[in-house]
Amino acid sequence: MRLAGKVVLVTGGAKRLGQLIALALAERGAHIAFSYRTSAQAARFTVKAIEQHGVRALAIRADLSRAADVRRLAEQVKRRFGRLDVLVNSAANFDRTPFETLAERDWDHALDANLKGPFLCALAAGRLMRRGGKIINFADWAGVRPYRDYLPYCVSKAGVIGLTKALAKELAPRIQVNAIAPGPILPPHDMSVAARRRAARREPLQRWGSPQDIVNTVLFLIEGTDFMTGSTVFVDGGQLIA
Ligand SMILES: NC(=O)c1ccc[n+]([C@@H]2O[C@H](COP(=O)([O-])OP(=O)(O)OC[C@H]3O[C@@H](n4cnc5c(N)ncnc54)[C@H](OP(=O)(O)O)[C@@H]3O)[C@@H](O)[C@H]2O)c1
Repeated sequence: MRLAGKVVLVTGGAKRLGQLIALALAERGAHIAFSYRTSAQAARFTVKAIEQHGVRALAIRADLSRAADVRRLAEQVKRRFGRLDVLVNSAANFDRTPFETLAERDWDHALDANLKGPFLCALAAGRLMRRGGKIINFADWAGVRPYRDYLPYCVSKAGVIGLTKALAKELAPRIQVNAIAPGPILPPHDMSVAARRRAARREPLQRWGSPQDIVNTVLFLIEGTDFMTGSTVFVDGGQLIA
């Protein structure tokens, strides 16, 4: 698929990886709709940055764990652009939830945003993509090799890998659905320098990846091949084999 002139929806597109993906796709000539939940100021900045590439931009506030918000999101994309070609499900939360204090609300918080959200968005997108399209989900290497203190998060990302396979079957042959499972790319703001070094030492390539590694993978899944579906690409510095 060529991106020029296409319409892409990026969830969580106001900041961090979602923003960098939105800008890279705009640079390739795609019109960009993106969702944000709390980052209104960053969303305004991102709209301007996207428009500087000569394409159209639309920021929509939505809590993706709520079906009504996702319906409204899809309606606004349809009203503004009349079509959708690519969905990038980047939004997620990542909260430490030690087992001693782990509670039902932690499970719901992670699973609702990280698994139900991408499901609801794919459901809406699959119906909007009348001419075919692509869906790219965001998993995590921890979806296959869970680490401690993040049980609901790890399970939500394992679910994203399963969701990717099931959606790929449901939506074939019109729509290809794949996932990216990043390793350490962009640390959370509250992660200490020592913890960042420890994370790097744990994996074979001994360093953090860069957002460009993720952007390049998104571009590959959209423009590089139309013959992949149901796959999860691990961009993880080798964490999976560590
Ligand atoms: N960063 C990494 O190194 C890394 C590693 C492994 C996997 N990943 C995965 O890659 C993706 C992007 O990573 P990231 O670090 O850029 O993500 P992030 O900063 O943790 O989150 C991206 C955005 O998700 C939005 N969000 C959270 N809950 C939401 C909800 N209920 N409804 C709507 N939006 C919600 C937030 O929007 P607002 O700010 O507007 O509230 C946030 O800005 C995520 O799926 C993440 O799990 C990232």
